[in-house]
Amino acid sequence: MPRVYQPTDYVVEKSLLPSFEKYKEMHKQSLDDPEKFWSQIASEFDWQTPAQPGKFVSYNFDLNKGNIFVKWMEGAVTNICFNLLDRNVRNGHGEKIAYYWEGNHPDDYSRITYRKLMDLVCQFSNALKDNGVGKGDRVSLYMPMILETVVCMLACARIGAIHSVVFAGFSSDSLAERMASCKAKVLVTADGGWRGEKLLVLKNTCDEAMQKAQAKHNHKVDKCIVVSHLKRVTPCGKLPDDISSLYKWTEDRDVWWHDIMEGQSTFCPPEWMGAEEPLFMLYTSGSTGKPKGVLHTTAGYLLYAATTFRYVFDYRDKDVYWCTADVGWITGHTYVVYAPLANAATSVLFEGTPFYPDNDRYWAVVEKCKVSQFYTAPTAIRTLTKFGEEPVKRHDLKSLRVLGSVGEPINPEAWLWYYNLVGNGRCSIADTFWQTETGGHVITSLPGATPMKPGAAGFPFFGVEPTLLDESGALIEGPGEGYLVFSRPWPGIMRTLWGDHDRYEQVYFSKFPGYYCTGDGARRDEDGFLWVTGRIDDMLNVSGHLMSTSEVEGVLTEHPHVAEAAVVSKPHPIKGEALYCFVVLVDGVELDAALLDALRKLVRARIGAFGVPDTVQYAPGLPKTRSGKIMRRVLRKVAVGDRDVGDVSTLAEPAVVEQLFNNRP
Ligand code: PRX
Repeated sequence: MPRVYQPTDYVVEKSLLPSFEKYKEMHKQSLDDPEKFWSQIASEFDWQTPAQPGKFVSYNFDLNKGNIFVKWMEGAVTNICFNLLDRNVRNGHGEKIAYYWEGNHPDDYSRITYRKLMDLVCQFSNALKDNGVGKGDRVSLYMPMILETVVCMLACARIGAIHSVVFAGFSSDSLAERMASCKAKVLVTADGGWRGEKLLVLKNTCDEAMQKAQAKHNHKVDKCIVVSHLKRVTPCGKLPDDISSLYKWTEDRDVWWHDIMEGQSTFCPPEWMGAEEPLFMLYTSGSTGKPKGVLHTTAGYLLYAATTFRYVFDYRDKDVYWCTADVGWITGHTYVVYAPLANAATSVLFEGTPFYPDNDRYWAVVEKCKVSQFYTAPTAIRTLTKFGEEPVKRHDLKSLRVLGSVGEPINPEAWLWYYNLVGNGRCSIADTFWQTETGGHVITSLPGATPMKPGAAGFPFFGVEPTLLDESGALIEGPGEGYLVFSRPWPGIMRTLWGDHDRYEQVYFSKFPGYYCTGDGARRDEDGFLWVTGRIDDMLNVSGHLMSTSEVEGVLTEHPHVAEAAVVSKPHPIKGEALYCFVVLVDGVELDAALLDALRKLVRARIGAFGVPDTVQYAPGLPKTRSGKIMRRVLRKVAVGDRDVGDVSTLAEPAVVEQLFNNRP
């Protein structure tokens, strides 16, 4: 039986939500009377026109009854940028720090107040307008983690343009496809940036992408706005004397950020937007290969981002909050930009990596900025465990109170390392389950209120009603495992896929009529905790036993010699599917017969004989995207020895793929 961890007095004291009873009461209120619950929160924000009573939420989740739609606060009019900046300045937060920026090199750092951020956003809004951008136009971003990225997103929101941030690790092909898909008018980028010692010439990728968008997709980007970043930061590797020799410049199309900002007024009235008008789109991969442009709208997203942030991180006035995610992913959108600013919070914006200049960089920044909430991904935690305790112990981390986890199930070993070592046994861990599509956290623990079990996501957030269904669509009540679906919308759920409402209906609503289908499996235990077991497509059926790959991964990483594990299924003539495991080992350890035997025994002991892996392969590293997601499709190809791995341009270390093929047992 996994141990239950209760929030410590250190966290509960002064918590916004200090008991499980209070959580249950509020959760019930949020389901019983959504209008009352969310309109109270809405009243803190600024509305040109408030929502009509009785029309707070309307939706259809059942394809048999017609088209799928979700609407919150229909008829209300507001501007999200105005709420994040002008409202906060008006409320006396003008001189408060919005962001501490920490660069790739520790010598590069700055800070910005709410007032200054507002001024820059207004200036850039005016600059965008001068460059032909207006309400409803799409602006693509391909940016490093710098303040201009936030300024640009908020400026789009201010003038009603729709931003589409493409993670600056995607290839030029991917960027071209995404720009063409949304018909972006303008692309905003930087000349380049550093990731550790590696130089990334972003402008080059953008040039290629704009050329490909035209040649392959017949789409022309009108303007490319470029931030001059390389000159102002410390070089972390080799750089030519003449930085401009790194990329080309196309007159009439390419313009410098600083040139178009020159002389712009710091006054820019916001574009008043309907509650259901688009705020941004963000592409996420789909099973067919064609990316899906997940669309989020204005009012509901604001309410949901603001509320989840407040309760899930238990944010208090003087706290410093840090989410390490890149803005190229939904976590960066909601929990680096929109949610903290909606709460007038002070955040860290980090351009670097956890490993530069040393493996203690995260902890150095926590100590330096006195971070109270630290939000990162399990994959980062597992990678950091490889370096042992010393890099963590080098730093004073007593400012920490809440630790967050996002992106995949966190295995109990990593959870305990995070809890005991980083959190010193007194911080709460919020394991936040959500998706690009959900806009914000949907299943999570709440720091001062809910008990925690290592590896369990926990409980539904306010407004969220999770349901477990079996393959036939029958309801699983009480303890059990099945498809994780939602029977009603919360304010932050996506509204459509850009330009493809049919696909939206098919992908998310056709499998189980009446439900939004997450594509994930989950287990409800006897205490009501929800454990997200991973994508249903990562489920394995070994001799009729349904298992999730993450379950086996959790067991393998329990072994002290295993730093990381990834499990995929390999077709098997008798069992249907067999487990094929990749293990990254702790420095200095070899995968010999004794370790192999020990791992097999461990799985047998934890899961059962049917779960014993057929193959365990040594992996020098795992094929991960730069956001840290393991690309399982590549591992499945390695498992069957098929070198036709498809597009691997989004991998952080593409060389690892070849090594894995060479290491097949
Ligand atoms: O499988 C779930 C996993 O990540 C998927 C969503 O990925 P994406 O849209 O890229 O968004 C990631 C950041 C929100 C989910 O369907 N996932 C995310 N968080 C968790 C998780 N699985 C388990 N536990 C989590 N905390």
